[in-house]
Amino acid sequence: MPKSKTSLKLRLPRIKATQAEHDETINKIASLRQFYHYVEIKGTQTTQVHKHPLPVWDEIHPLIPLTVKDMKCLDVGCNSGFYSLILAANGADVLGIDINQTDIDVVAQAEWLESEFKTGAKFQRTDVLDLPSSHHNQYDMVLCLGVYHHLPDTDTALQKINKLMKKDALLFFGSVTNRFGESQYYAEDSAEFANDPYCYRIATPEDILEDLQENGFELVEEIPIDSSVYYGLFKKVKTTRKKTTRFTPDKIAEIVAQQRKAKEAELKKSKKSAKTKKSKK
Ligand SMILES: C[S@@+](CC[C@H](N)C(=O)[O-])C[C@H]1O[C@@H](n2cnc3c(N)ncnc32)[C@H](O)[C@@H]1O
Repeated sequence: MPKSKTSLKLRLPRIKATQAEHDETINKIASLRQFYHYVEIKGTQTTQVHKHPLPVWDEIHPLIPLTVKDMKCLDVGCNSGFYSLILAANGADVLGIDINQTDIDVVAQAEWLESEFKTGAKFQRTDVLDLPSSHHNQYDMVLCLGVYHHLPDTDTALQKINKLMKKDALLFFGSVTNRFGESQYYAEDSAEFANDPYCYRIATPEDILEDLQENGFELVEEIPIDSSVYYGLFKKVKTTRKKTTRFTPDKIAEIVAQQRKAKEAELKKSKKSAKTKKSKK
C-alpha cells in the first residue's frame, strides 16, 4: 500500500464474528452470487479471484481531499459498493447507483455489505441518466470508474454527470482503454470484445480525454495504474459543453459500420489468399 498523507481510513473496519456468524456470512456471499469487489468480512471475503478494487483505491485515495466529511459523493456504477462504503465510512454523504447491467444483482450485494458495515452509504438501482433534476448541481465528488466503456452513449452520460456536479467538483474517472491503436467501437447488439455484450467501446486515452473535455471536464492528474485502463482525476470547469462532433451516437454508428466493413474486407482478402495458396499446391 503506498504511503499517504491522508487521514482517511483506508480499509473497511474488521467485523468480529462468532463461528456461526462466520459460516452464515459464507453462505450469504454464495447466495448473492459472484462479487466483483473484494471485501473482507467476518473472517472471510466476498471473492477469492482477485483483490479489486483495493489496488485501484490505493492509487486513488492520495488524490482525495484530506477529509471527505459531509462531502456529497455519487458513485456511478457502484457495483458491490466498495468505494461508496469506504467514502461513507470516512464521513461522506454517499449515494451509490447501478443499473445491474448483468443478471447479478450487484445493488443487493452493496446493500447487504452496508447492512453489515453500517457506514451510512445509500444505494439505488438506477441508470445515471434517470437521476431526477433534484440531483442536479448537488455533488462535490463523483466516481465514474469502469463505467465509460459500458455506456452506449458516452456524450449524453457525461453531460448528465456534469449536470449532477457542483462547479469545481471532482470526478474520479476510469475506463478500459486502447493505448496502441485506434478507438474501437461496438454496436449495441455486439459481443465482440472479450465476450462482453455490454462493452461498447475501447477508446484511446486521447479520445477519452477529448470526450471529457468537450463535456466540461479538465484533467487534474492522470493516475497511472494499468496500461489497459485509463484512470484520471478531473474537475468540472464548465457547465455548458462544446458542441460535440465525434462522440454522438450517429457518428459512432457510422464508425462502427466502417469498422465492420473494413473487417469484412480483410476477412475476404485472407480467405482469397488462402484459396490461392491451396490451388498452387
Ligand atoms: C466494471 S463495473 C465497475 C464497478 C466499479 N465502479 C469499479 O470500478 O470497481 C461497471 C458497473 O457500471 C454499471 N453501469 C453501467 N452503465 C450504467 C449506467 N448507465 N448507470 C449506472 N450504472 C451503470 C454496471 O452495471 C456495472 O456494475
